[in-house]
Amino acid sequence: MREQLEKIKNDAVKEIKVGTDSKGLDEIRIKYLGKKGLLTGILRGMGGLSTEERPVIGKLANDVREEIEAALEASVNKIKSGEKNKRLLEEVIDITMPGVSSKIGGLHPETKVLDEIKEIFFGMGFSVAEGPEVELDYYNFEALNIPENHPAKDEQDTFYINDKVVLRTQTSPVQIRTMEKTKPPIRIIVPGRVYRSDAVDATHSPVFTQIEGLVVDKGITMANLKGTLDTFAQRFFGEKTRTKFRPHHFPFTEPSAEVDVSCFVCGGEGCRVCKGSGWIEILGAGMVHPDVLRRGGIDPEIYSGFAFGMGLERIVMIKYGIDDMRLLFENDVRFLKQF
Ligand code: PHE
Repeated sequence: MREQLEKIKNDAVKEIKVGTDSKGLDEIRIKYLGKKGLLTGILRGMGGLSTEERPVIGKLANDVREEIEAALEASVNKIKSGEKNKRLLEEVIDITMPGVSSKIGGLHPETKVLDEIKEIFFGMGFSVAEGPEVELDYYNFEALNIPENHPAKDEQDTFYINDKVVLRTQTSPVQIRTMEKTKPPIRIIVPGRVYRSDAVDATHSPVFTQIEGLVVDKGITMANLKGTLDTFAQRFFGEKTRTKFRPHHFPFTEPSAEVDVSCFVCGGEGCRVCKGSGWIEILGAGMVHPDVLRRGGIDPEIYSGFAFGMGLERIVMIKYGIDDMRLLFENDVRFLKQF
C-alpha cells in the first residue's frame, strides 16, 4: 500500500507538471482525488489493515492528498496567471491609433438664409416680431379685409381648428397684432411658419416659412417700399440687382404689387434659372390698406405704411439652385452637408 501511495503521488505530480490548462488539471484532480479517484480507491481498501498500520497509512494517504493538492494549486495558479496575461495581451488597446471622430452638424440652409435676410433688415433699422401659429380667423382673415366668403379664403386652403381658429395661412396677421400693441414708428420683419392644406410636390408644402415686413410711420410712401426692397435685393442677390413691381391684388394692401428681381445669374439676359425671362418673382407687397391700419388702432389720416411678404423656402431654392422643395424638409445629411 505504501508503494501504491508513493506511485500515485509521483504519477500525479508528473502529470500535473505537464498539464497546460485549467481544464486538463481539473481532469487530473478527478482522476486522483475524485470520488472514484485512485487515491480514494486506496483509502477504501484501508479496512483490511491492522490497527497499528491503519493510522500510519492513513497519515501517509493524507500527506499524499495534500501534496497532490498543493501541486495542483501551484500549477493552477501558474496557468491562470498565464491565461490572464494572454488575455491582457489580446485585449491590449493601442492608444496611439487615430480615433473615430464624431461628425459635427451645421446650420440648415433655411437658417443660414434667414440669418442673412435678418441681418440685412437689421441694417435698415428693422426688428423681429412674432405671432402665434394657431391663430384667430379674425387676425388671419377678417382684420386683413378678407371677410367670410371672400375668394382669397379659398385660395389659401386653410386648416381649421374650429369655426374661429385656424393654422395661420400667412404671417400677415402679425401686422394687426403688432399695430394693436405698438405705436408708430413700426419697422418689423416677421419670420414664421405658415400652413396651407396643399399637397406636397416640388414647389408646395403644407408647412412653409414666410417673412413678413411692415413699416408704419408718418409720410411712408411707395418710394420707401421700393427703396427698401431695392436695398434688400442688392444686398442679398448682388449690387447690380434691380426690382420690378407688377400690379397685383391683395385685400390688405392698396395698391399691391408682385415684385421681381433681375436674375442674379444672367443679369437679365435670360437663362435657365429665370426660365429665359430675366426676372425672378420673390415677393408680394403693397401699401397697407387704410382699413387695416384702422383695425390696428392707427389713424390712416396721420400714418401710412407698407408691407411685404416672401416665402423663405422659395428664396433658398433660388439662391442655391435647388429644384425640389422637399429636399429642404427631408433632412438628408448628404444634402444638408453641401451648405
Ligand atoms: N400674405 C401674402 C401672401 O401670403 C403676402 C403679402 C404680405 C402681400 C404682405 C402683401 C403684403 O401671399
